[in-house]
Amino acid sequence: MKMNNYIELIDKKLDEYMQIYYPQKIFKSMKYTVTLPGKRLRPVMCLECCRVFGGNYEDAIPTACAIEMLHAQTLIHDDLPCMDNDMYRRGQLTNHMVFGEAHAVLAGDALLTFAPQIILQYSKKLGAEKLIKIMEEYFHAAGAYGVIAGQVVDIESEKLMQSFEFSGEIDTNKNELEKTLEYIHTHKTSDLFKLALRTGAVIADASEEQITAITEFGQNLGIAFQIADDILDETSTFEQMGKTLGKDKAEGKLTYTSLYGLEKSKEDLNKLINNCFKILEKNNIKSEVFEQILNKIKTC
Ligand code: IPE
Ligand code: IPE
Ligand code: MG
Ligand code: MG
Ligand code: MG
Repeated sequence: MKMNNYIELIDKKLDEYMQIYYPQKIFKSMKYTVTLPGKRLRPVMCLECCRVFGGNYEDAIPTACAIEMLHAQTLIHDDLPCMDNDMYRRGQLTNHMVFGEAHAVLAGDALLTFAPQIILQYSKKLGAEKLIKIMEEYFHAAGAYGVIAGQVVDIESEKLMQSFEFSGEIDTNKNELEKTLEYIHTHKTSDLFKLALRTGAVIADASEEQITAITEFGQNLGIAFQIADDILDETSTFEQMGKTLGKDKAEGKLTYTSLYGLEKSKEDLNKLINNCFKILEKNNIKSEVFEQILNKIKTC
């Protein structure tokens, strides 16, 4: 399957899974952000990973769509006034700008539980053993061990940066900031990519060795992706990205570019993408779709 075919399939299934029930406003709010035109990288990677390890990608469709719902949840909450306070996402107004803050909080909460329900409802044929593994992966990545941990430290890092800036101690504390940044990027970003890849692999009955390799791939790709996002926040435009930009710097956030500067950020991004290509080669994983995604991130 080509990237565009996967995306078409995912969009069709997302629309199908997300029916509007009573109370309509919450279902509409959930569906609003999920169905806006995102890049669909995580669900595509879930389906493709299932395929490269010898599985039938169709078996991974509910899981792939659930991961896109979880991703949309993280975006809705990330944009809230108490978090990044952003007005635009995927080229449109953010969820809380359209539905109000209370509904946006609730839509995020609802997606977090709706997503695994979709997996359980539509993937019964995978059997109990695989379903338990998928649930373990989902809850690990979605909760306080995963994205939430990353988002908490991300928010706290604003204060940390401000205190070091105020006392002129950024250089003396660089080591601590580097470790903190790696933690943030691992959890807020890599964890969802790893979730997508690992669940795709589980569905395909991949070996432990293959799962380890694809996890390392996802870790490298996730960090590269977040470095690219940090770079683009400084260098890109609303027209290209469809979201509010330039705020990381204005808010004094701890990002790859604020810590290392643009030049080193680009160098490290390249290194990480090269690592990803090496992991694919070493493990004999052949995928044009993965290569396409890597090349896109590289040329941000
Ligand atoms: C945005 O992710 C959040 C980050 C991890 C930077 P994407 O850039 O994949 O967002 P969509 O899905 O295309 O909107
Ligand atoms: C957020 O990182 C990642 C998650 C939503 C978990 P950012 O805050 O940098 O993402 P954008 O730039 O708003 O998409
Ligand atoms: Mg954020
Ligand atoms: Mg944000
Ligand atoms: Mg960003």
